[in-house]
Amino acid sequence: MDRHSTLWYFTIVATAGHDTTSFALSGGLEALLRHPDQVRLLQDDPALVVNATDEMIRWTSPVRHFLRYLTEPAVLSGTELRAGDRLLLSYPSANRDERIFDDPMAFDVTRPNANRTIAFGGGEHFCLGSTFARREIRTLLPRLLAAVDEIALDGEPEYAQANFVGGVKHLPVVARLR
Ligand code: HEM
Repeated sequence: MDRHSTLWYFTIVATAGHDTTSFALSGGLEALLRHPDQVRLLQDDPALVVNATDEMIRWTSPVRHFLRYLTEPAVLSGTELRAGDRLLLSYPSANRDERIFDDPMAFDVTRPNANRTIAFGGGEHFCLGSTFARREIRTLLPRLLAAVDEIALDGEPEYAQANFVGGVKHLPVVARLR
């Protein structure tokens, strides 16, 4: 890469991993706190955190969309597309595809195929930081749950006003530490 590309690539690496992972954590924690039975499942079986992390990422889909320009004609689900057409990749929608996920509107840390989340994209531009993002969430979540006897929502969350990368910006919680 030349100097210009290198500079922008570092900018992408630094910014792409910030709000995305934070929103997966904050929105995932909100979903957990709205389903106390799921918190108990995780507290009883800490190994479940691997699957829970993927479900949190599927559920929150922090990157809302990307756009692609077609370089050649294609047919997608019966729709003919021309070169130059724009194609919206909607990650929250794909993550609720009922052909892939049973009962997709349910938040379920035991979902058997949560790792089929499309939240990290696919193909050539598949997220460079997906392993790191998963590791961050898998590290924080068990430590948080182990540190508290009780944790609950303490008001309504505030959402970021964004249509690209978005999610829960402030999550009021009340907790009793062990
Ligand atoms: C839950 C957290 C994350 C989500 C949901 C997410 C989502 C995505 C998505 C959807 C893309 C594909 C963009 C496209 O197709 O054009 C992408 C690319 C990328 N992500 Fe992530 N990301 C996350 C965390 C991270 C982290 C932690 C890092 C770095 C530390 C990172 C770095 C990047 C980079 C550098 C790219 C561009 C890859 C390329 O174009 O070759 N991401 N991410």
